[in-house]
Amino acid sequence: MSKVLKHVAIIMDGNGRWAQMRGLPRWEGHRRGVERVREIIKAAIKLKIEVLTFYAFSIENWQRPKKEVEIIMDLLKKHLQRELNNFLLQGIRFIMIGNRSFIPKEILDIIEKTERETTHCREIIAQFAISYSGRDEIIRSISKAIRQKIDPDKIDENIINSLLDTAGIPDPDLIIRTSGEQRLSNFLIWQSAYSEFYFTQTLWPDFTEDEFTEAILDFQKRQRRFGKISEFTRT
Ligand code: IPE
Ligand code: IPE
Ligand code: MG
Repeated sequence: MSKVLKHVAIIMDGNGRWAQMRGLPRWEGHRRGVERVREIIKAAIKLKIEVLTFYAFSIENWQRPKKEVEIIMDLLKKHLQRELNNFLLQGIRFIMIGNRSFIPKEILDIIEKTERETTHCREIIAQFAISYSGRDEIIRSISKAIRQKIDPDKIDENIINSLLDTAGIPDPDLIIRTSGEQRLSNFLIWQSAYSEFYFTQTLWPDFTEDEFTEAILDFQKRQRRFGKISEFTRT
């Protein structure tokens, strides 16, 4: 791999449709979706990616039927309990981004325990956006700035970066969204200012290591200019 690719973020979409197409309940799609997460983290470690972010549950998703929300939270809880050992063995540091105040205490305890116990892991950072929305993250960062009485004339990009949930994490180089939808749905809206996008029709439960690698190779072919002109362009 030639181009620097530190951070890949994934909007895991299409679980419900995957299940409905098969005459299965939506939660079966979520269950299959969780299986894919393990496979993609493993692939990312092989590709030497430093940070992988998964959009697992948005603040807007709290408005889904109570039963579906309960099932997703239960899957999350079971996944973290089951994966802790694997995280430790593979050197996966787990971090949650999102609004902790909306998450039931029992689930939050497991999330924070997983964060604590994997703090020393160094192979990869697996960030999970749970109860996350980009606008909410920005609003909370503004509250923090006011609470910390930061001098308004000193506020710059670095200060904002340090107040976001993603403090210390590089911006995503590549954002992948499955299921054919071409939108951010409130995901990393500040951090994605110069991200590349990869959209695929594949539904998340069908997204394989091969397609992940394909997305990375596609990224490698792109030219990022960040508002400048290519170094090979004649002026
Ligand atoms: C993504 O799949 C998972 C979550 C949002 C929790 P969806 O549940 O949105 O699946 P579709 O988009 O309805 O197919
Ligand atoms: C975005 O998917 C959130 C996650 C993948 C967790 P949604 O299915 O909730 O997004 P919309 O409603 O299609 O924009
Ligand atoms: Mg969806």
